[in-house]
Amino acid sequence: MAKIIDGKAIANALQDRLKEQASYFAMRFGRKPKLVVIMVGEDPASAVYVRNKIRACENVGINSESYRLPETTEQSELESLIEKLNKDETADGILIQLPLPSRLDAKKLIPLIDPKKDVDGFSAENLGALVLDDKRALYSCTPLGIIQLILSTGIDLTGKHAVVVGRSNEVGKPVALMLLQHNATVTICHSKTVDLGAVTRTADVLVVAVGREKLITGDMVKEGAVVIDVGINRDANGKLCGDVDFDSVAEKCSFITPVPGGVGPMTIAMLMTNTMKAAKRNVQ
Ligand code: GUN
Repeated sequence: MAKIIDGKAIANALQDRLKEQASYFAMRFGRKPKLVVIMVGEDPASAVYVRNKIRACENVGINSESYRLPETTEQSELESLIEKLNKDETADGILIQLPLPSRLDAKKLIPLIDPKKDVDGFSAENLGALVLDDKRALYSCTPLGIIQLILSTGIDLTGKHAVVVGRSNEVGKPVALMLLQHNATVTICHSKTVDLGAVTRTADVLVVAVGREKLITGDMVKEGAVVIDVGINRDANGKLCGDVDFDSVAEKCSFITPVPGGVGPMTIAMLMTNTMKAAKRNVQ
C-alpha cells in the first residue's frame, strides 16, 4: 500500500519558512511584499482559489490587493490596469486568475504583465527562461509544487523514467522541463498517445495533469512508482476526485498524492514563494 504525500503539511511548512522571509523583508524595506490578484466575473471555482490565495498571503505576511471586476469588463480596461500595476513599485507580483470570461483574451493580456511580476510564470519570457535553465526567472507554480512533492519522497530523479500525462503550457510542458533539470528521462503523453498504459507502466515517476476523472487505473502503473495527481474533477456524486483512480493505484505504487490535499496547496505555497522572490528582485 502506498504512502500518502501530504501536500497540505508540506505546503504549511513552506509557508512557515516564508513568514520569516516576509517579516525580514518588511523590516528591511519598510513595507510588506505585495501580490495583486485580478479576477473577472463570478466563476465559483475561481472565487475559491482566489480566496485561498489571499488567505495564504495573510498567513505569510504578504500584502494582497484584489481586483474583483464585473463580467462585463473590457479587454482594454484590463490592459490599462496591468499597465498601471506594472508601474506601481509596491506591486511585486501580478496574477490574472484564469479562466477569464470567453469574451476576454488571456493570451493577449499575459504578455503585457512585466515578466519580473509574472508570479504565475505563464509569460513567454519566464517559460523561455525555464527552457534555458535560468533560475532567476519565475517558474510556473503548480510544476514547482509537483517537483517539491516528488523530492519529499526522497527519490533521486537522476536517470529515472518520468512520464508526464498532459501537455498544457501551465503544467505538462513546464513540469517536463523541470524533471529534465533534475536529470530524469522524460516522456510526455497526451490525448493522441497510442496505448497510454504501455507508456505509463514504464514510469518510475508518473505526473498526471489532464483533467479526466480516474483516467489512470492500477493496471497502468508500475509497482513502486511515485504518482502525482494534478487533476481536480467532480465525480457523478459531486465529490472532488483526481485524474488517478486512487484506490487501485495506491495498491501498487510507493507514494501517491491525494485529491484534495496534494498538489493544490503546493500551488499556493509556490505562488507565495514566487511573490517573495519577485519582491526581493524588485527592491534590488
Ligand atoms: N486557475 C487555475 N489555476 C490557476 C493558476 O495557477 N493561476 C491562475 N492565474 N489561474 C488559475
